[in-house]
Amino acid sequence: MSTQLEKIKELIELREKARLGGGLKRIESQHLKGKYTARERIAMLLDEGSFEEFDMFVEHRCHNFGMENQKYLGDGVVAGYGTIEGRLVYVFAQDFTVFGGSLSEMQAKKICKVMDQAMKMGAPLIGINDSGGARIQEGINALAGYAEIFQRNILASGVIPQISAIFGPCAGGAVYSPALTDFIIMTEGTSYMFLTGPKVVKTVTGEDVTQEQLGGASVHTSKSGVAQFAVQTEEEGMKLIRKLLSFLPQNNLEDPPLFSNDDPIDRLEDGLNEIIPDNPNKPYDMYEVIGAIIDKGEFLEVHADYAKNIIVGFARFNGQTVGIVANQPKYLAGVLDINASRKGARFVRFCDAFNIPIVSLVDVPGFLPGTGQEYGGVITHGAKLLYAYGEATVPKITVTLRKSYGGAHIVMSCKQLRGDINYAWPSAEIAVMGAEGAIEVLYSKEIAAEKDPEKQAAIIEEKKNEYNKLFANPYNAARYGYIDDIIEPRNTRFRIIRALQQLQTKKLVNPPKKHDNLPL
Ligand code: HXC
Repeated sequence: MSTQLEKIKELIELREKARLGGGLKRIESQHLKGKYTARERIAMLLDEGSFEEFDMFVEHRCHNFGMENQKYLGDGVVAGYGTIEGRLVYVFAQDFTVFGGSLSEMQAKKICKVMDQAMKMGAPLIGINDSGGARIQEGINALAGYAEIFQRNILASGVIPQISAIFGPCAGGAVYSPALTDFIIMTEGTSYMFLTGPKVVKTVTGEDVTQEQLGGASVHTSKSGVAQFAVQTEEEGMKLIRKLLSFLPQNNLEDPPLFSNDDPIDRLEDGLNEIIPDNPNKPYDMYEVIGAIIDKGEFLEVHADYAKNIIVGFARFNGQTVGIVANQPKYLAGVLDINASRKGARFVRFCDAFNIPIVSLVDVPGFLPGTGQEYGGVITHGAKLLYAYGEATVPKITVTLRKSYGGAHIVMSCKQLRGDINYAWPSAEIAVMGAEGAIEVLYSKEIAAEKDPEKQAAIIEEKKNEYNKLFANPYNAARYGYIDDIIEPRNTRFRIIRALQQLQTKKLVNPPKKHDNLPL
């Protein structure tokens, strides 16, 4: 064999070795836990055969605790680029079979390299996390590695989409890289995220909790709101990432991809003309409205299990991506509260950063009252949603279906927050508050003065009717130009599509500043 062929053979053997990560035994143990290996995950995620790997021969350079005798090619992370539906993406996947995927100085360098490339090329970054955290043997070098990654997450925020899949442990400060990205996906039963594990919790607070109870997928998608998506399997998670990316542009200077659409743009949905119940306090399901108006009813909901009183997610109108923000009358009457405000604000800001028009469907009775909300800072959190809508320069279309009261009316993309097109259904009620509350404030003395209960009820009824006649309609707002048109519900899809077409060339720039100071 020639020297050159021998060298090629050596290369092939080294590649084979690198592909085995921490070895067959540990791969088997990974499989026994119901988890895939880093390479299997990347293969599942990307278009077949598209993956190009960087830094397969990287090794750690730690000499503590006999580490110089334990080296694995690649050092616990597989990193590189490939395509999803033919579009370039950068990816890294921590390899749990090598020192538990723990983050070393050199692993961090590999991750930072793909992050830098993603930024240079303007392409999304996907991180697959499965790691025991900072590599203990490396001490400060591992911590510095995390900090390098965080810094890049921060600079990439709003420039390229960043998606984190948590398919195993993600504990300690390591959680902050995913937390700095746009979307977190967690697998049920095999992933968890927490700052301090059950043992430390027990020592400090005396609480007995399992990893799942402390930071499992359902905790973070329904209670804390840290993660946007929970999936049953890693396969499902990969499909979700691919679907999510189909709605997004490659970077903040591009528009999302335009899909061909065969769903008629003028499809009339007669059911919407009868969806609003006669009784204003009776709910209906906002999902039915969303499903009826978007292309083929295909809605990718974000944060589905968190703050269900507001619905956010991606859809298309005539092939164009939009972000939908909708109050859900079926859950807490669609009221805005702390969690709904945070959820809505984050989504609106993401859409605005990535040139995604926002369609808001409004049926909101107001903000949730009470000490729980006030002590929790609903003023600041509500202001986040207000701020997000107000600063957004993407096309903003608002359709008021029924209630739109008080501060919540303003917050939900009203005309004065630079709403471009604000439509209302004939069933809309746009006022400072509902009739009952208003009568109480305006006529409480007059009502109390009437001692005969029957007559008292008659006064209340009369005043309520008077108030409703004046305000429980969209015409009062339309009279002042605050509503651009009152539309037939069944024609909502067509009117939104026409509005989006009109807004294609929208140009709006906020005043120059170093950065804003949104209420955090
Ligand atoms: C070095 C580690 C490691 C780590 C795991 N391993 N975590 N090596 N540094 N942080 C190694 C183990 O020694 C083992 O090596 C292999 O990975 C698999 O680990 P196991 O414990 O056998 O696996 P499992 O039972 O599944 O438990 C996984 C685990 C546990 C829960 C993640 O390993 C664990 O608790 N690890 C430590 C977690 C931790 O406290 N990390 C520091 C967090 S603080 P062998 O050779 O036996 O296969 C932090 C600060 C970041 O990360 C700050 C950023 C700002």
